Amino acid sequence: VRTVRVEVAPRPYDVLVGAGVRHELMQVIAAVAPAAKMAILVTQQSLVDAGWTTDLATGLAQYVLVIGDGEDAKSMATVETLLHDFVRLGLSRHDVVVAVGGGMVSDVAGFAAAIFHRGVGYVTVATTLLAQVDAAIGGKTGVNLEEGKNLVGAFHQPLAVLADTDLLATLPPREVACGRGEMAKYAFLDVGKPSVALLSYDLDEQVAHCAEIKARVVANDERETGLRMTLNYGHTLAHALEAVGLDDRAHGRDTPSAQLAHGEAVAIGLVFAARLARALDRIDDERVELHERVVQGFDLSTQLPSGLRAQELIELMARDKKAHHDLTFVLDGVRGVEPVRSIDPVIVATTLVEMGADS
Ligand SMILES: NC(=O)c1ccc[n+]([C@@H]2O[C@H](COP(=O)([O-])OP(=O)(O)OC[C@H]3O[C@@H](n4cnc5c(N)ncnc54)[C@H](O)[C@@H]3O)[C@@H](O)[C@H]2O)c1
Repeated sequence: VRTVRVEVAPRPYDVLVGAGVRHELMQVIAAVAPAAKMAILVTQQSLVDAGWTTDLATGLAQYVLVIGDGEDAKSMATVETLLHDFVRLGLSRHDVVVAVGGGMVSDVAGFAAAIFHRGVGYVTVATTLLAQVDAAIGGKTGVNLEEGKNLVGAFHQPLAVLADTDLLATLPPREVACGRGEMAKYAFLDVGKPSVALLSYDLDEQVAHCAEIKARVVANDERETGLRMTLNYGHTLAHALEAVGLDDRAHGRDTPSAQLAHGEAVAIGLVFAARLARALDRIDDERVELHERVVQGFDLSTQLPSGLRAQELIELMARDKKAHHDLTFVLDGVRGVEPVRSIDPVIVATTLVEMGADS
């Protein structure tokens, strides 16, 4: 078992990484929530079906609540249903919520825990690769509104995170790709370490290493005022590609963009960010090739899907919430990865066209 400490005030917590760490749940709860008498597990049907909820022991009176799947269920309605169930089951402020799932479950259950009785503790058993290396760590919880993703939420740090790599055995391939895209990102956030080293680690080491980087960034910038923006590396183009894909799906267009998983979009976004940094003379060709090697090493494509228009992507990127209505990108450079503001749209367009977009 590898332990990654997340140093946030006033209460740091541990992320336990390794095969079988879910079996530590009872001891972990006893240590972090000694007054708890009840545990409510919040999970999804696919995890129940995979049998992962049957062998989770909390040592307390234990209930399981199943929430819906996908971004539509990541809603205030789901949170409200959970809150009613918490009252019905008699959850007190000293008890504990256990989120058993991927980022969707930890975002929703973490948010319900944040606002119930003005905050009850929660432990996350992270079951997707993306959650283990990213979503479960850092205390950002919340839900979507019809108007947009993650518009409502709270910072509420978990009491502990269990990243059991055994759980990944039943993860659908598309979800594996999502996690790999984020892992590829971390390869470039670790200043001073050769980026390809990550590829040679075994899965437990990879997860622990990425979790460590996320923990470090969160500890230095819990409320996302600066450094935490680097976690957005590769995501500005990725969000634009996902927006195109969403629109294509909504209109029944079966385009390559409509098929992209989040992590696949991030992977392409990383290669694009490297090429843009090269165009701005921030890095050299070798560093661009390194990005391609890492992305390919995680079995992801470096190619922009066909049929995209550079101008449309630029408009979408300028609107990206985290870009603050300006063409801001997180880019590699001599000081490592950092936000770079007010980038010339012409250079962005040229880079996209070089990658195969229509002008
Ligand atoms: N809070 C944060 O810091 C943060 C960071 C990144 C992403 N997120 C959020 O995370 C969400 C995406 O999370 P995700 O990628 O983990 O996907 P997810 O939680 O939506 O899970 C994807 C699917 O896989 C299933 N699943 C999960 N674990 C499984 C397992 N071990 N075996 C079989 N099936 C399993 C789920 O039931 C679901 O159907 C998004 O809503 C995103 O906004 C949050």
